[in-house]
Amino acid sequence: MDTTDTLVELSKKMPKTELHLHIEGTFEPEQMFAIAQRNQVKLKYDTVDALKAAYQFTNLQDFLDLYYQGMSVLLHEADFYDLTMAYLEKVNSENVVHVEIFFDPQGHLSRDVPFDVQIKGIYNALQDAQLKWGMTSKLIMSFLRHLSEESAFETLEQATPFLSWIDGVGLDSSELGHPPEKFSRVFEACKNLGLKVTAHAGEEGPPDYVWQAIDQIGVDRIDHGNRALEDDKLVAEIKARGLTLTVCPLSNLKLCVVNDMKDHPITRMLELGLNATVNSDDPAYFGGYMNDNYASLVHRTGISKTELLQLAKNGITGSWMDHHTKEQHLERLHALFQ
Ligand code: HPA
Ligand code: ZN
Repeated sequence: MDTTDTLVELSKKMPKTELHLHIEGTFEPEQMFAIAQRNQVKLKYDTVDALKAAYQFTNLQDFLDLYYQGMSVLLHEADFYDLTMAYLEKVNSENVVHVEIFFDPQGHLSRDVPFDVQIKGIYNALQDAQLKWGMTSKLIMSFLRHLSEESAFETLEQATPFLSWIDGVGLDSSELGHPPEKFSRVFEACKNLGLKVTAHAGEEGPPDYVWQAIDQIGVDRIDHGNRALEDDKLVAEIKARGLTLTVCPLSNLKLCVVNDMKDHPITRMLELGLNATVNSDDPAYFGGYMNDNYASLVHRTGISKTELLQLAKNGITGSWMDHHTKEQHLERLHALFQ
């Protein structure tokens, strides 16, 4: 019998991938205040502690309101670089070997921060992480679903000179009232450009939004997907298509998608044969990075060693890495579990 301590140690050592991570959600309050000061921007909160005290959310929108406020101090390329590098350093220390990160260009374009400023800062940090540690990455441009289809098309236009740096597109922000079908034409255009496609669905939104992400967008992956479990046919469809779910345990707890970590559906997803993965979403806001997410599952759900291995495997196979690199990571992972 493995003790929880042994399993937590194992989860720390596993080579991990992170497939659901908003770079703006890695903005730690200390760094936010430092960059605000550097840019002579005033934050709504006077101190780091006052800001942290505001991180009490009852739903997704509560969080998003603070998330957009926080990112508003990002103005220059160096800000985007520093933000991204701080995250990469952190997860490198946690044995994360590959990251697929979202950025929200519209959250910055609306403040007149040009597209090239944003993406150059983020991309250069990703490149440096590969040089320094061999950490690989994919970059996912995410559309804000509370904005219009027209705005998403304009964003895609802005991205055109940088398409070789962008691997996929996503859909995030306020889910309720903004179903995936609102963006079916934009995603069609993105697919025609050879981009991978994913969408947040079933975090707060109903199973029907997950159906739409599959049938009308033709997603390669589903971000969250919790509420898919309410619909047996949908579960069967996700399984038949072998779609990966990028699940975010601590995020779900903080945003009240689950009431208690012991009731988190991730083990149920595995039992149903779904390709669930563990991710941190917005770690600076939700109380933990990759290893904290695993530790919380170990402590609260009684997850087994076999399930731990399955989750880490799913993270590798569900990534957008090439086949050979996946095989190398899987080999290392299996060696660790021998
Ligand atoms: N859901 C929707 N939009 C988001 C999230 C999330 O968890 N994080 C950042 N934007
Ligand atoms: Zn997310």
